[in-house]
Amino acid sequence: MTENLEAPPMKRSANDFIFGKVLGEGSFSTVFLAKDVHTSKEFAIKVCQKRHIIREKKQDYVKREKETLLVLSKNVKESAPYFVRLYCTFQDPESLYFVLTYAKKGDLLGYLNKVGSFEDHCSKFYGAEIVQALEHLHCLGIVHRDLKPENILLSESMHIVITDFGSAKILNCVEMDEKNKENSEDAGELKRKSSFVGTAQYVSPEILNRTRTTPSCDLWALGCIIYQMVAGLPPFRGHSDYAIFQKIMKLEYEYPDGFPDDARDIVTQLLVLEPSERLGAKDIGSYTSVKSHPFFSGLDFEELHKVKPPEIC
Ligand code: ADE
Repeated sequence: MTENLEAPPMKRSANDFIFGKVLGEGSFSTVFLAKDVHTSKEFAIKVCQKRHIIREKKQDYVKREKETLLVLSKNVKESAPYFVRLYCTFQDPESLYFVLTYAKKGDLLGYLNKVGSFEDHCSKFYGAEIVQALEHLHCLGIVHRDLKPENILLSESMHIVITDFGSAKILNCVEMDEKNKENSEDAGELKRKSSFVGTAQYVSPEILNRTRTTPSCDLWALGCIIYQMVAGLPPFRGHSDYAIFQKIMKLEYEYPDGFPDDARDIVTQLLVLEPSERLGAKDIGSYTSVKSHPFFSGLDFEELHKVKPPEIC
C-alpha cells in the first residue's frame, strides 16, 4: 500500500513542505530536500518544470517514472526494501512534484570516488543488495535500464536505495512469458526506443544495437558495477561515448592485477554479449544461480536488509 493513503487524505501542495538544499539536478528536473510542515519528516522532492519537459520532449520519461514508482510503492517487499518510494504527487501551473524517500547518505558513486575501490567484503555486500533488489524488480516485470552507481543511493543506515526510473520499462505479459524471444512491438515503443540509450559505461550491447529489452540488461549493469566496486573504475572506459560503445560491442575490457578470482568469475559470467547467456538470465522468479555464486558465499540474501552494512573504507 502506498504511504500517501496513510497520510492526511487531502491533496498535498508545495505549501505543505519547506524546501531546502538541492540534492540533484537533471536537464528538466531538480531534486530538493524538503520537510513536511505537519510531521517534520524529510523527503526528496523531484520538481519537474513543465516547460522544460516539453522542450526536452521528456513527457514519456516522466510518465514512465511515475508509473514504475507507483508499481514499486504498491509492492514493497520486506526483504528487498531497496527502492525510493513515491509518497505522493501534485502539480501547479509550472511544475510536477514527486515526493520521494530521502536517501541521506548520497550515492554509491560518491563513495567510489572517495575511497577508490571497495574492500572485497563491501563489494560483496553491496553487490548482494543490488541482486536482491533486481530480483524483486524483475519479478514485478520492471527493467530499470539505467542502473549505475549514481542511481544507487544510500539510506541513513547505509542500505541501498535505487532511484531514477525514468528509463524503466514495465514488460507486458507476453514479454514476461517470452523473456528471451523476439516479438513485435507497437509503433510508439519503437519510436521511443530509437532515442533511448542509458549511461555509456553501463549500457548493454543489446540496448546499443536496439534489440528487445529484457531484464538481462540490468544483469549486464550489475557486472559493470561489481567490476567497478572491486577495481575502482568501470570496465568499459574511453574518451567519448562512441569509444565506450565500441568497446562494449567488442567486449573489450581487462582485469587489473590482483582482481580476485571469485569476482572475476562472476563479472565474466555477467558481461556476456548474448543477453540470454548471462548468469541469472535463465533463472525464473529467483536469481538462484547469481546468489549461489562463490563471490557471494556466506551471505543470507533475505536477511541483508536487517544487518549492519560493512563500513565503506
Ligand atoms: N538525489 C536525488 N534523489 C535523491 C533522493 N531521493 N535522496 C537523496 N538524494 C537524492
